[in-house]
Amino acid sequence: MDYFYGPGRNHLFVPGPVNIPEPVIRAMNRNNEDYRSPAVPAMTKTLLEDVKKIFKTTSGIPFLIPTTGTGAWESALTNTLSPGDRTVSFLIGQFSLLWIDQQQRLGFNVDVVESDWGQGANLDILASKLAEDTAHTIKAVCIVHNETATGVTNNLAKVRKILDDYSHPALFLVDGVSSICALDFRMDEWGVDVALTGSQKALSLPTGMGIVCASPKAIEASKTAKSVRVFFDWKDYLKFYNLGTFWPYTPSIQLLYGLRAALDLLFAEGLENVFERHARLGKATRLAVEAWGLKNCTQKEEWFSDTVTAVVVPPYIDSAEIVRRGWKRYNLSLGLGLNKVAGKVFRIGHLGNLNEVTFISQIL
Ligand SMILES: Cc1ncc(COP(=O)(O)O)c(C=O)c1O
Repeated sequence: MDYFYGPGRNHLFVPGPVNIPEPVIRAMNRNNEDYRSPAVPAMTKTLLEDVKKIFKTTSGIPFLIPTTGTGAWESALTNTLSPGDRTVSFLIGQFSLLWIDQQQRLGFNVDVVESDWGQGANLDILASKLAEDTAHTIKAVCIVHNETATGVTNNLAKVRKILDDYSHPALFLVDGVSSICALDFRMDEWGVDVALTGSQKALSLPTGMGIVCASPKAIEASKTAKSVRVFFDWKDYLKFYNLGTFWPYTPSIQLLYGLRAALDLLFAEGLENVFERHARLGKATRLAVEAWGLKNCTQKEEWFSDTVTAVVVPPYIDSAEIVRRGWKRYNLSLGLGLNKVAGKVFRIGHLGNLNEVTFISQIL
């Protein structure tokens, strides 16, 4: 028998889903509740207020959706765009590829800006596309803040600056699935129109909640966007927000209590300290990779990710074998290389609720 759970704890170091801290596990260990009681709307109201802080927004409207990152993408796109709309989207790894595939399947006209896997989004091409687009046919710029497949972080402030340089009104849609709550994210300052994340990443919750935040401009766009949407329609949420009952359908009570506990932990530590901790762990990982004589898949320092490192193995080694052996010998879960980099890289996740001792003793 090749695969079994060996002795000791499973050391979970994939870049999501991540380890769930004990206070969050305890907070979720509870019975179901009637979401129409006065208690759940009251809790939801404070959650919606508090969740804005992880996006650094005061004007955004958040939606806590029973879904995953993929559903959060769909919510962002279908609420703001109409079939045939032109988007610019950067292909730099497996997750940006999947988002582009979703955009195409939803009927948008996607300008794909491709870079080598290991590089960041090519923003020079974005600038030239916006410069040419005086008729404003580009309706949205879609970008993955942190490409989890390659460990590449894109510079969102630069994207905003380019949009501003050309006074371009395109919506700015950002996948923050492996960045938000780990890397600094400034929705209002960067003029992000829709930002989104998934509960199982840096929030360190179970999978199952997509957290989407829409700017006033995105909410305005949703009033005329013609994409078909039912489950993800923001209008239904807004209706129940106005009624003060908050939920168009049954929420997971356990996840709501978990989110409360996860936010409390983040705020107690202080978001800036959370970012610093991730920066330290990211740097430690890169130093270790160097010491091992291996290379980082990320080609330039400006793109280094503080949440995930994709480690390139020598060509005579199959990186999947390293992941397999880690699992078998040490009960260690590392991330596989995906798609183009399958067999070539393995990934170390260093995001979420973890500290130096946990990380260094179990991984480095
Ligand atoms: C950057 C990024 N976006 C989107 C997704 C898709 O999220 P989910 O698997 O929760 O649907 C992932 C998953 O790992 C991701 O890393």
